[in-house]
Amino acid sequence: MRHLLSIADLSADELVELLDLAESFDEIQHRSIPKVPALRGKTVVMAFFEDSTRTRTSFDLAARRLSADVVNFSVSSSSTKKGESLRDTVETIDAMGVQAIVVRHSSSGAPRQICEWTRASVVNAGDGWHQHPTQALLDCFTIRRRLGGLQGRHIAICGDINHSRVARSDVDAFVKLGARVTLVGPRTLLPDRWDDWGVDVSHDLDEVVSEVDVMYLLRIQQERLGDALFPSIREYRTRWGLTVDRARRLQPEALIMHPGPMNRGVEIDPEVADDGRSVVLDQVAAGVPIRMAVLYRLMGPGQFDDNRATVGDVELAPASGHEPDNKPLAQGVI
Ligand code: ASP
Ligand code: CP
Repeated sequence: MRHLLSIADLSADELVELLDLAESFDEIQHRSIPKVPALRGKTVVMAFFEDSTRTRTSFDLAARRLSADVVNFSVSSSSTKKGESLRDTVETIDAMGVQAIVVRHSSSGAPRQICEWTRASVVNAGDGWHQHPTQALLDCFTIRRRLGGLQGRHIAICGDINHSRVARSDVDAFVKLGARVTLVGPRTLLPDRWDDWGVDVSHDLDEVVSEVDVMYLLRIQQERLGDALFPSIREYRTRWGLTVDRARRLQPEALIMHPGPMNRGVEIDPEVADDGRSVVLDQVAAGVPIRMAVLYRLMGPGQFDDNRATVGDVELAPASGHEPDNKPLAQGVI
C-alpha cells in the first residue's frame, strides 16, 4: 500500500487488517506513555486546504504517537495566498524530504493528482464530494466494536448523500464488510445514479427508523450546495431529521452516528445527539488508532513481528526510554 486515496483501493481483507491493526494501536493509547518509536525519523505533512477539526487533530496525534515529526502546512499563512499553484506547493514540500502528505482539499481528485508530484505517500483526508477513507475506517471500527461486526447489519445513511464524501466512502466500506445499506433523503439530495452502489433507497425516514441497527446522519453540505435543494431548514428537520420523537422509535440497541460537525436542531435534535445510543464521540476517539494504523501501513517497515516488542527492526518501547507497560502484546502486530 503506497497511498490511501479511496476505500475502493482496499479489499475487504485489507480493510479488516487495518481495523485489527487499529485495535492494537488503541491499546498503546491506554499505556501510561502512549507513544512508540515506530515512525521515528519520518516526517508527515498535514496539508489541509479545507477546514477540519477532527481529521486534522487526530492525524496529528496519530503521527506524534508513532514518533513521526509533524509539519502543519497552514494554507491561510502559506504562499498559496500569493498565487502559488498546488503543483508548485506540493513539489516544494516534496523537495524538503517528507515521507507522507495528508491532504484535504475541496476538489475531488486533488489527492490523486498530488501523487504525481511527490515521492511521499499521500493520504486522502477528504476531497470534495469524492472520498474520506479514514472516516469510513473509523466508522467501521466503531460499529464493529459496538455490534461485534457489520455482516448482516442494517445501516441507514440519512441526509445530504449527494454532496457527501463520507456517504460514498461509508457505503463502499459497509457494503464490503457485508452490511445492508439504505440511503434515506429527499430526491434532490440523493445522487442521480446509485444503482451500482449496492444499496436500497428510501424517501421516508419514518419507514426505516425502527428497522435499523445503525442510524447514520449527515450534515447538509451547505458549502457545496448551489440552489436551494429543500424548502427550508424547518421542513428538512421535520421530514429528514432524527428528532426526539423519531429516536424513540429506534431499536433500544441501535447506534446513532454522525461524522461531525453536527448541526444540532437540523439533521439531529440536540437531545438525540447526547442520547445514550449516540456513539459520535466514540467515532472521534476511533480516529486516532485508525489513523495510526494507516500511517503505519504506509510508512512503517511493514514487517510485523508477532511475539517481540518490535516492528521490523524498530523496538516498540515508549519513545521516552521508559519501560513499556507490562501488557501482553496484541497478536499479529506488536
Ligand atoms: N467532516 C466531514 C467531512 O469533512 C463531514 C462534514 O463535514 O459534514 O466530510
Ligand atoms: N468528520 C470530519 O471529517 O470532521 P472534520 O471536518 O472536523 O475533520
